[in-house]
Amino acid sequence: MTRSDLVPPLAAAGKLALTEAELVDWGTRLGRQITPPLVITLDGDLGAGKTTLARAICRGYGVTEEVTSPTFALVHVYDAARSPVHHADLYRLEGPKDLQNLGWDDLVQADALMLIEWPDRAGELLPPDHLPIQLRYLDGDPTRRVLYAGGHLGHHTGDR
Ligand SMILES: Nc1ncnc2c1ncn2[C@@H]1O[C@H](COP(=O)(O)OP(=O)(O)OP(=O)(O)O)[C@@H](O)[C@H]1O
Ligand SMILES: [Mg+2]
Repeated sequence: MTRSDLVPPLAAAGKLALTEAELVDWGTRLGRQITPPLVITLDGDLGAGKTTLARAICRGYGVTEEVTSPTFALVHVYDAARSPVHHADLYRLEGPKDLQNLGWDDLVQADALMLIEWPDRAGELLPPDHLPIQLRYLDGDPTRRVLYAGGHLGHHTGDR
């Protein structure tokens, strides 16, 4: 799978200001295309739409269970035909050390799709090889979010 399969060309330039329906549509299509193992980070302020997008990705990936915010449990696990899905929300993490109690190493190394909200909380324990997605509020339009995707892949070639 190449990076251009995963990310629409304009997304990396931050040109996509999406309504909720458009974001859900984009996420559902992304979920259909991706192949495990894959870690996707979802960065953005409170209410930016991280869980909304995670739910859409899960839907496209084939998760049939209801996908709810893992704010309190920190990690929710779902079944899908292609692999399990690990959906983490690290907002309430006190520090990276807490991740060990979650079995973090096993989670990120699993042959699974991993979706991580508030990825910065993981510090250096965030796997470097991940697909980063950022959601940003748009000044003057509360119904749209700016989507940035795949912008910081670093050494990643895009092929996996
Ligand atoms: N264009 C949009 N994209 C996504 N969500 C939108 C959009 N416009 C409005 N919303 C609303 O913004 C809210 C996003 O909530 P969501 O739980 O997905 O955010 P979150 O980033 O996961 O928040 P948290 O940081 O609390 O986990 C929802 O109420 C949704 O209806
Ligand atoms: Mg959320």
